[in-house]
Amino acid sequence: MIEIDSLTKRRAGKPVLDGVSLRGAEAGVTVLVGASGSGKSTLLRCMNGLEIFEGGTITIAGHRLAAGGQSIAALDDLRRDVGMVFQQFNLFPHLSVLDNVMLAPRVVAKVPVEEARCRAVDLLDRVGLSAFVAARPATLSGGQQQRVAIARALAMRPRVMLFDEPTSALDPTMTSEVLDVILDLAKAGQTMVVVTHDHGFAKRAATWVVELAAGRIVRQGTAAAMLG
Ligand SMILES: Nc1ncnc2c1ncn2[C@@H]1O[C@H](COP(=O)(O)OP(=O)(O)OP(=O)(O)O)[C@@H](O)[C@H]1O
Ligand SMILES: [Mg+2]
Repeated sequence: MIEIDSLTKRRAGKPVLDGVSLRGAEAGVTVLVGASGSGKSTLLRCMNGLEIFEGGTITIAGHRLAAGGQSIAALDDLRRDVGMVFQQFNLFPHLSVLDNVMLAPRVVAKVPVEEARCRAVDLLDRVGLSAFVAARPATLSGGQQQRVAIARALAMRPRVMLFDEPTSALDPTMTSEVLDVILDLAKAGQTMVVVTHDHGFAKRAATWVVELAAGRIVRQGTAAAMLG
């Protein structure tokens, strides 16, 4: 489902990712760990076409990304199959919770409005937010907003989900409500890559753990071997 080969990314001439190669299993949870600045977010962003890279290839959910950037059409195709959730939720503030979740299926995938609504209602139920469909994001807690962001990404039925430190902006109670949603997704067989500093979560969720340092993979292995 995910295969990265010799990925190299530079910023201002300095390598940020330096020959990164990895494989992520279908229906598996790959956890990325590493010190601040090691390149975790950059790697995730390359996997969703948010960064142009200089060398290597990424194959993800059947899409092949080459060095030098992709066409707009290829990026649109990629983002139907690869969803991403960021640390800072990034919800649309002027739209209701329901409309946030309906937007991409309507606009990008041209899903009919009633079907998009049904999908959104189901997903909001799945993340425990049925009572908040009509609310604006600003009236929700951080944990609730992040669960909306997860529902919004899932609305495109992505084959791979990418999470970049999804709980690091949250306090401990909200962290666990968001991690429980992500664990449920993992149990349901969603392929995902998660950047996290939460070792407890990584131990429970990860099928494979990859450690980056200064843009290179320095260790990788099972959760038991890496975090035990
Ligand atoms: N927009 C940018 N412009 C220039 N350099 C950047 C930019 N974003 C990140 N970098 C640099 O790229 C390197 C990798 O950053 P990245 O954000 O991928 O690290 P990270 O592992 O996600 O760190 P953190 O744990 O702090 O989120 C760092 O040296 C960082 O300073
Ligand atoms: Mg980061």
